[in-house]
Amino acid sequence: MTSTAPAPLTVRFPPGFVFGAATAAYQIEGAVHADGRGPSIWDTFSHTPGKTHLGHTGDVAAEHFTRYREDVALMADLGLSAYRFSVAWSRVLPEGTGRVEQRGLDFYRRLVDELLGAGVEPWLTMYHWDLPQALQDRGGWTNRDTAHRFAEYADVLHGALGDRVTHWSTLNEPMCSALLGHMSGQHAPGHTDAVEASRATHHLLLAHGLGTRVLRERGATSLGLTLNFTPMTPATDSPADVDAARRCDGQQNRMFLLPAVTGAYPADVVADLAAAGAPLPVEDGDLETIAAPLDWLGVNYYFSSVVRETGEPTGKQSSFIGAGTIADLEPEGPTTTMGWGIDAPAFTSLLTWISSVAPGLPLVITENGSAWPDEVTPEGRVHDPERVQYLHDHLAAVSAAVDAGADVRGYFAWSLLDNYEWARGYDQRFGIVHVDYDTQVRTVKDSGRAYAEVIRAHR
Ligand code: FCB
Repeated sequence: MTSTAPAPLTVRFPPGFVFGAATAAYQIEGAVHADGRGPSIWDTFSHTPGKTHLGHTGDVAAEHFTRYREDVALMADLGLSAYRFSVAWSRVLPEGTGRVEQRGLDFYRRLVDELLGAGVEPWLTMYHWDLPQALQDRGGWTNRDTAHRFAEYADVLHGALGDRVTHWSTLNEPMCSALLGHMSGQHAPGHTDAVEASRATHHLLLAHGLGTRVLRERGATSLGLTLNFTPMTPATDSPADVDAARRCDGQQNRMFLLPAVTGAYPADVVADLAAAGAPLPVEDGDLETIAAPLDWLGVNYYFSSVVRETGEPTGKQSSFIGAGTIADLEPEGPTTTMGWGIDAPAFTSLLTWISSVAPGLPLVITENGSAWPDEVTPEGRVHDPERVQYLHDHLAAVSAAVDAGADVRGYFAWSLLDNYEWARGYDQRFGIVHVDYDTQVRTVKDSGRAYAEVIRAHR
């Protein structure tokens, strides 16, 4: 740990700006067998030998399922105005479709009531990667029917929580579900098949559109979709590198944003996928469904990438279709424990670019944060100057985008708690609150205190 004191944050956000923190069901809840929860693809994947760091699973995680009251109290202490969480589909519909598990719905109702009672606005994400295993057994996202099952789930969930949850988001990062799940195989279900990846991409977006339609019909007024963006820069200005950056940007960023906000896939991406033998399985009317009007777009940002066309197979399974010869350059400068570089200025340009593609659509930063090797001192403090600096620099980057005209309405720190970082397990700590996994004791880190200061200054 460096001892350099992080620069103070001097920027101010517009009145009404939402300051929150985010989590996801499988990363924090634990209690995977409680109250009739059905298995999800992440239970299966994390229990498959060799798939996750040291075989870590979300079986216990941060025990949020039983400790949610304590966690909501922490949010109130930090002064958060909002909390972004996800619902585990298989707690609500253990087989993904059909039979509703009332005890699962009751958990989320208790959580939401606790939040409302504490003055913390719930922002609900319907799907953060944990597909019911029963639907995976029928082909998962490669099966078009899964999109219709998602609409069914939307109907059930809004029926149960629509009276008390205002802010709804359909999907978190469909890029990861589709491409990390079906192309690089790093995430559940762990497949490496271009045709599957392309089908999953389209069916996830279709699910978003069908789910949005259901929520809208049921009266939802604050509806969003969360996408993850990685700005791509070519390593050199050679035509090959420039084209590599175009292809990566196409599948990472534009393939998800453009259909949702303009009703069309980018033509170059459609051509790339077709050339790779993995065309998008678009049917008549799908794009109109996918482009259902949104009230806000959720933007997740962590780092930027520099890419290079190597001209030969890299030997690493790419996340992108037909991109097996493209390599990522090692980031310059310090990296987080994830190995990710740090690039706050790219966040500003990203937000400006999204605003130009989707003019008039409010943006909400639904995730941003960094992992560091945190430890609790004997005095019970967690000094995480790098995370404080990252937080300040990225808030300043958002503020600069607002000054440049981007309509950004809120910021959710990733994450409220240290948690199960998917295939990377528990060694990656993203929380502004430390979790001791032996005792489940929560300790607010210096970054949590710094964030609370920022929020207090905006009261
Ligand atoms: C995002 C995920 C989130 C967390 C962060 C670090 O891609 O949405 O669950 O894993 O990365």
